[in-house]
Amino acid sequence: METQSPTMAPPRDASRQPSPGALLTALEEAQSADEYNHLSEETLRKVARVSGEPLSRVYSVATFYSFFNLKPQGKHTIIVCRGTACHTRGSLNLLREAAARLGMPEFREDEEPSFTTDDRLFTVRTVACFGQCALAPVVSIDGTIHSRMTQGKLCELLDAIRKGARR
Ligand code: FES
Repeated sequence: METQSPTMAPPRDASRQPSPGALLTALEEAQSADEYNHLSEETLRKVARVSGEPLSRVYSVATFYSFFNLKPQGKHTIIVCRGTACHTRGSLNLLREAAARLGMPEFREDEEPSFTTDDRLFTVRTVACFGQCALAPVVSIDGTIHSRMTQGKLCELLDAIRKGARR
């Protein structure tokens, strides 16, 4: 009679395992279908159920890639570069100005990677480098890179977005 060690996991049928790409695609689709562009716990459980992947694997993929959001996101995304070139040209003041302007003066980048305003209009986050160091300091607003940003220019842009949202 053939026996199997109780500590030995049964062999996995590789042909039945979803590819890593399939899991990424499922997560991307789930996130983009979400009103607040994020993956809730309920959504992660659903992806695990549908894909047949363990929830722990789905969770580890969702937390590994920075483009997946586990918290609800604002309608507009502001990314302040905090790389060395941008830092030396004042990006910390830009981040502080944005936080204060958007009602989150207590935000500390060393405590949280991002914040979203209560009205879910803005999410502000940082990045290590946009690769545009010659144009420092750099801020991205909804995917558009703004070079040589100043506090005044940033405030104008944030106010314009807020005004547009009220119309
Ligand atoms: S350090 Fe900001 S773009 Fe490189």
